[in-house]
Amino acid sequence: MSAKPDPRPAPGTLLCRLDELADPGSRAFAWGEFGNEFRMFVVRKGALVRAYVNECPHARHPLDWNLGQVFDPSRELLVCASHGAKFRPEDGVCVEGPCLGKSLMPVEIDVGDKTVRLATPMRRRLEHLLVESDSRVSDRTALTLRLARPMDAQTTFAWQSDPSTRLHMRNPEKPNWEEHRAWFALLLADPRRALLIAEYGNTPVGSIRLDPQVLAGAGAAFEVSIVTAPSHRNKGIGGTILRLTRELVPDVVLVAFVKPENAASLKIFAVNGYVPADKDGHLVNWPGSGH
Ligand code: FES
Repeated sequence: MSAKPDPRPAPGTLLCRLDELADPGSRAFAWGEFGNEFRMFVVRKGALVRAYVNECPHARHPLDWNLGQVFDPSRELLVCASHGAKFRPEDGVCVEGPCLGKSLMPVEIDVGDKTVRLATPMRRRLEHLLVESDSRVSDRTALTLRLARPMDAQTTFAWQSDPSTRLHMRNPEKPNWEEHRAWFALLLADPRRALLIAEYGNTPVGSIRLDPQVLAGAGAAFEVSIVTAPSHRNKGIGGTILRLTRELVPDVVLVAFVKPENAASLKIFAVNGYVPADKDGHLVNWPGSGH
C-alpha cells in the first residue's frame, strides 16, 4: 500500500495579503482531497496574526460553516460552529464549551509587512540548517547534534525505559518496544516535530525533541524535551543541548515542562534562560533570552 501524499503545500506558500484579512477577521484554506486534506485558517485581531489547523479538538470538525468566518459575534473569541466551543485567538486555548482547556493545533506562519505565508516546519528547517553545517552542529565541548534516524529507535528506547528517566517524565509508565517503535516512526514522519541526537564522536549521549505547542501567555511555541543517556548524567550534557538548540533556532519561543521536585533540571533550564511560565511546571525561554 503506497503512502498518501502530504497535502500540505510547500513552505513559503502565500496564504493571503494582510489587507485581505479584516480586523478582526479570518480566512480558511484547504488543500488535498477528501480523506487526505490539510485545512487551516488564519485569524487577525489588531497586531495579532495566528494560524491554526481547522479542526476542533472536541469532535474534529472544522470550526467554520461559513466560509472561513471563525470569530464569535463578540469578535473576541473564535467559535466552533458544531457545538459552540470557544477559543482564544492568541493561543487557541478553549475557554468555553465541550473541549475546555484543550487547544487548537497551531500552524507556523511567517507574517511579513504585507503577506502571510506558510513557514517551514521545524524538522525541514533543521534539515536545511544541518545540511549547511555538514549534518551536525557542534560546540566547544565537542558535543554534536544531528537529526534522529530510524536506527536511533533502539537507543532512545533504552534511555526512555530507564527508571530514573521515567521518574521525571509526565507519563512515568515504561513503554513497551512495540509502542515505542510506532511512536518513533510517527515522530520521524511528522515534519512539524524534530528529534535531535547529541553525540560525542559517534556515541549517542542524549536527545532533545521539539514539538509544536501552545502555552497560555506564550502563544505558539515549541516544547523541548531532553533525555540524557543514563551513563552520561551529571556531565553538563543537558545544558549544552539546550544551548546548541537555542543557537539553531534563535527566533522561536521554547517552552519546557519540568516537575517541581526535579531540582537538577530546574537549575539547568534556569541557567539557560528559562523562566517559570505558570504554576503547572511550565518554563519559557523567549527569543534572545538564552545564555
Ligand atoms: S466539534 Fe467543535 S465543539 Fe464539537
